[in-house]
Amino acid sequence: MNESPNTTLLRERWPEGAVVYHIYPRSFQDSNGDGVGDLKGIEQRLDYLQSLGVTALWLSPFYPSPMADFGYDIADYYDVDELFGTLDDFRSLLTAAHNHDIKVIIDLVPNHTSDAHQWFIDSSASRDNPKSDWYIWRDAKDHDARGNPIAPNNWLDVLTGHSAWQWNETRGQFYLHSFDVRQPDLNWTNPEVREAFKNIMRYWLDMGVDGFRVDAVYWLAKDPLLHDDPENPKYRASEDLLYEALLHTKSCGWPPVYAYLSEMCDVLKEPEFTSKERFMVTEAYPERHNVLSAYLQFYVGMDPAVAAPFNFEGTALPWEVAPWRDFLSRFHTALDELSPLCVASYAFGNHDKPRVASRIGVNEARSAAVMLLTLPGMAFIYYGEELGMQDVAIPIDRVRDPAALGDPKNGIGRDPERTPMQWSAAENAGFTQGTPWLPIADDYTSVNVETQSLNAQSSLTLYRTLGTLRRDSATLKRGSLSVHSSGCDDVLAYDRALNGHEQYVTYVNFADQTRICTIEPNNTLTLVVSSAADTVVPHESKNSLTLQAHEAAVFVATTPS
Ligand code: GLC
Repeated sequence: MNESPNTTLLRERWPEGAVVYHIYPRSFQDSNGDGVGDLKGIEQRLDYLQSLGVTALWLSPFYPSPMADFGYDIADYYDVDELFGTLDDFRSLLTAAHNHDIKVIIDLVPNHTSDAHQWFIDSSASRDNPKSDWYIWRDAKDHDARGNPIAPNNWLDVLTGHSAWQWNETRGQFYLHSFDVRQPDLNWTNPEVREAFKNIMRYWLDMGVDGFRVDAVYWLAKDPLLHDDPENPKYRASEDLLYEALLHTKSCGWPPVYAYLSEMCDVLKEPEFTSKERFMVTEAYPERHNVLSAYLQFYVGMDPAVAAPFNFEGTALPWEVAPWRDFLSRFHTALDELSPLCVASYAFGNHDKPRVASRIGVNEARSAAVMLLTLPGMAFIYYGEELGMQDVAIPIDRVRDPAALGDPKNGIGRDPERTPMQWSAAENAGFTQGTPWLPIADDYTSVNVETQSLNAQSSLTLYRTLGTLRRDSATLKRGSLSVHSSGCDDVLAYDRALNGHEQYVTYVNFADQTRICTIEPNNTLTLVVSSAADTVVPHESKNSLTLQAHEAAVFVATTPS
């Protein structure tokens, strides 16, 4: 694609180089003592977010919900659950965030509603009501010897691994729920459903939100003939989740996914929204054998001027140099070839995945932060990640996640990464005056915002340095990426460069020992920030540099003129 002046402008869109802070509203800041975080609590913390270099927020769902899946089961797309506040609280948060130069993207959950949504109540009332075809209803395939209806096919619910079909007596039919039984799937082949979502988007865009994170998009389109999913030949019944018994080639990911997402892109491009650079990021975890092409398919299938898929390599790749080097080189080369409009989107954690410090290690997580905040595109920080918050062992009697309650092999599920934000060493970590909905981590007296703010070596200080560096640097926002040799097998090295601006070089040592690497000929490197809290090794000599175990460091490179 040729670069036109227009293209250059689009490269200055806010998602390029954004520092996006992902808030799980239940767990961020409680303002009214009910033990659950809320919108007013978020508003109170905007100064903190600004000091971190944050340029955008992603809010997980705050809509009215029975909370069967903690808000991902939505009963009304046009309002705020009273647990989180009111619509006016949302408007106030939006205005305050914008006054802090922080964009706000909200969660859009198009695949399913709550079973308490009026659409579903209407749809399940009879076979011939105006909403009868808004969900995926099917007759029983047959009846068993006892006369019980048999589900139309073998599809499984993602959260619990049980049948994805639930019998409904009133209609005498099954409905499909790809997630929890209380999350019936909408029928996206029905144009009325698609129109309803476009109107939901317009409503929030009119209010001023800057875009959406779009939930679980692979499930929007499935095999229309409802063939069985094939069995997974590698399934180990004693160890693997029930859901993994099948390969999900029929129950999700069919080609119309991209057409439906394109329709959503069209809304973002409507004249009243396009001038304001609205943007959406889609959630889809690709099969591991096919990662790169799966990500690229989204860029091709959507419009990269207004949409990008999450790239979840930060939650999936082992912390090893080879897979990272390979992914970064191939992914960014492919994106550059596709279109200069493609925005990458990196995350090392979210509300569904183990916390990065628990998954790869505390020092390794500091290096990951350096990568996250020096790679191109959108950098998503999951709340608390900046403190090095870890997964919390939830006592069995306090487990809340429906995935854990539905399949014992899920253990304690996703609650460990959803525990309250650690603000201070005060009671309940300063999160609430009441009883927190999930336990607070034991380490909160040392791992908290107040304590780490005073410590120049803390994880928070590292994130602040990196976040503000990225926010204020044209190169880190819009510069090109090139991965190059570091002269050492264990060390990843890449440059970020932009005409007329500083050039940055990042080195990441994946080894648990000191490593020496080479500096590109004629480059003089000046250290900007390092992940190693107590770095003692001299960083620079004429043409080599020494990195400590698991150290990642960012340098400004200058070449003599
Ligand atoms: C997404 C959400 C997850 C939720 C699921 C069903 O994967 O991130 O939390 O359970 O969709 O909505």
